[in-house]
Amino acid sequence: MKIDVITIFPEMCRVPLGESMIKRAQEAGLLDLHVHDLRSWTEDKHRKTDDEPYGGGQGMVMKPEPFFAAIEALRTPVTTVVMMTPQGERLDQRLVESFASGGSDSHLIVLCGHYEGVDHRVVEALVDREISIGDYVLTNGAIAATVFVDAVVRLIPGVLGDERSSEEESFSDGILEAPCYTRPPEFQGMKVPEILLSGHHAKIEEWKREKALERTKQNRPDL
Ligand code: ADE
Repeated sequence: MKIDVITIFPEMCRVPLGESMIKRAQEAGLLDLHVHDLRSWTEDKHRKTDDEPYGGGQGMVMKPEPFFAAIEALRTPVTTVVMMTPQGERLDQRLVESFASGGSDSHLIVLCGHYEGVDHRVVEALVDREISIGDYVLTNGAIAATVFVDAVVRLIPGVLGDERSSEEESFSDGILEAPCYTRPPEFQGMKVPEILLSGHHAKIEEWKREKALERTKQNRPDL
């Protein structure tokens, strides 16, 4: 999978996406990731990417020209263009899966907004999907793009060491995960539930299901 992220804060994405599994996915050739500075598609000497809003109002709006130039340079016939914005459809695991299932030849361009927003002609003419990572407002889309890329890339076949670990985790079957434990069996007087030490596979699965439902009811009754 190829992903191009376009932002005025490339380091905000490069550092977190250069670590751990996402780094290994790139080294293994499963992900071809490029983080670009939007300013490299400006033509004025101040490398200006924003301007005052028409109609008045607070804050600045991102100019259309650099986005159009960037997309023209990077787009291929298979590209899907995503814009990170709090006005987008809310990201969940189902949506993440749909982006990850595009196959190894798929190509995403992820645009990051900043200031009060992005000139709407960018959205109308270039963007296929507007995505929000939740009902709150971040200072810019680079952090949101990092979250989006991380969630999608870990579902590319081969990125997680153990394919089962993405199937068994929270949300993939609509509920949260059961609590988990490791050694030591007793710590500061707190014991690991007996059943997990029993080796009784069917009973353990039953316990996990029960705990997962309890947790979901308590923390996320909406699920
Ligand atoms: N930019 C600012 N806030 C955002 C959010 N919640 N999701 C996506 N992009 C954003």
